[in-house]
Amino acid sequence: MRAVSVALGAALLIALAAAAFLVWAARPAIAPIEPPSPADFSADLVDKGAQLAAIGDCAGCHTNSDGSPYAGGVALPTPFGSIYGTNITPDPDTGIGSWSRVAFARAMREGIDRRGRHLYPAFPYDHFNKLADGDIDAIYAFLMTREPVRATSPPNRLVFPLNARIVAAAWKLLFLRPARSEPRSDKSDPWNRGAYLVEGLGHCGACHTPRNILGAEEPQKALAGGEQEGWIAPSLDQDSPAPIHWTEESLFAYLRVGSDRLHGVAAGPMTSVVRHLRPALDEDVRAMAVYIASTMGEPAPERRSREEEIFASLPKGGSADAIATAEPAGSAADAAPTGAQIFAATCSGCHTNRSSRPLGGRPLVLQTAVALASPRNLIEIILHGIEPAESEPGEMMPGFADVLTDKQIAELAAYVRSRFSDGPAWSNIEDVVRGIRNGR
Ligand code: HEC
Ligand code: HEC
Ligand code: HEC
Repeated sequence: MRAVSVALGAALLIALAAAAFLVWAARPAIAPIEPPSPADFSADLVDKGAQLAAIGDCAGCHTNSDGSPYAGGVALPTPFGSIYGTNITPDPDTGIGSWSRVAFARAMREGIDRRGRHLYPAFPYDHFNKLADGDIDAIYAFLMTREPVRATSPPNRLVFPLNARIVAAAWKLLFLRPARSEPRSDKSDPWNRGAYLVEGLGHCGACHTPRNILGAEEPQKALAGGEQEGWIAPSLDQDSPAPIHWTEESLFAYLRVGSDRLHGVAAGPMTSVVRHLRPALDEDVRAMAVYIASTMGEPAPERRSREEEIFASLPKGGSADAIATAEPAGSAADAAPTGAQIFAATCSGCHTNRSSRPLGGRPLVLQTAVALASPRNLIEIILHGIEPAESEPGEMMPGFADVLTDKQIAELAAYVRSRFSDGPAWSNIEDVVRGIRNGR
């Protein structure tokens, strides 16, 4: 009797909790409006919106490489299937033309569309919810003054049960917290601006913060390093793996032009972040550099001495120009001969001789990809190379996917690791190469 009533009681509680959840999850539609006329928005507000949209990288997920700006159709791979970036041009039927400012702000902060449906967190509203009202208004003004485009994105392809949008509501209940960026009085204005942009609009943590098994960022590990599209997004905190520590100046250069003399270029998913950041104001990019430099902190003494070793291994030492072209010392003979031969034949021409831009690569001892605990980024770069930045004589490197076998790449990577880093040898490199080739 007793067991039965306990079971009944438990069932009742579960049913009540489920009902409460459904009530909480139900959100009203917001009435459609006539698309506002571009003349309703001041040019200054639209300009500000353009600069902010660059920092939020709206184009990265809403502009297809062969499509119209912001017209959607961009497939975003997730571990649970593909989600498509939608049309956010002001077309009233297929875009957000009939969305009021209030509906737009609700989407940015709570991940709910105009009709009241829950959106998936592939749309980084867990960061955008930190945006100030004025900034949301500016982005709204920018989007509402774009060319309206009629285009419908393909339906999301997610595994059951994630294909039901109620799952996104459950995710929010667990992980989405209302948040506003509170300025800290003990920090400078640029630091506060940088914190606001990095944690909010810039959503840097979407790639640079590790996620739990339900795909939510781990708040205690902000910027501690994550993964995206098979690449490692290195840690941007005091554990930064970069061989030479980042400074405000070097971070500014990297974010502004995509490379810095003492570190590599922005490759992989970071290329598009930097490209889309171009319309952002210098002072905002500077503020993000100030903030990231402060999360990284001053380098520890051990790190300083490793940096001195690295500088000393470069024959001319010290000067940045010399570093950018010098051949690092070190004996090739004591590492695996095959890797060394492949290196001499395919890499050293650009990375150790004195070739100049666009083909002169920096010494590999300076590259984060070689210093990471995982070989993934180095392998991605060897396979696919580095694309030159659009419309600028940027740096470029050919890919070797068709030239080298998995085994050769594994031997080469092991050699590069042992010669140009003091980290432990990588294991199972060939499996990682095969995995990346097969899209894993
Ligand atoms: C990392 C990828 C990503 C970025 C960056 C991103 N979005 Fe999105 N966004 C998405 C995805 C994916 C969806 C659709 C989610 C879904 O289907 O549940 C979406 C949906 C939206 C929607 C809802 C549209 C609709 O029709 O339901 C709006 C509005 C929106 N995004 C605006 C923006 C703005 C403004 C920015 C830049 C500040 C931005 N997004 C940046 C991925 C992104
Ligand atoms: C779409 C994913 C993604 C987003 C969003 C992103 N990053 Fe990155 N980031 C990466 C990846 C991947 C790399 C490694 C690139 C490489 O090896 O060339 C990287 C590299 C970097 C590096 C170089 C680290 C090192 O030690 O070499 C810095 C600095 C950086 N990102 C800063 C930022 C900032 C600041 C933001 C936010 C404005 C940001 N990233 C947003 C994916 C991302
Ligand atoms: C045609 C010239 C050229 C060749 C050949 C070449 N590279 Fe590069 N590589 C570059 C340039 C240019 C860059 C970009 C500037 C930089 O980061 O040093 C680069 C960048 C890199 C990076 C840093 C990328 C990042 O963002 O983390 C690595 C690692 C690298 N190359 C490894 C190799 C290896 C290994 C080989 C041999 C398989 C090789 N490269 C062959 C020119 C070349």
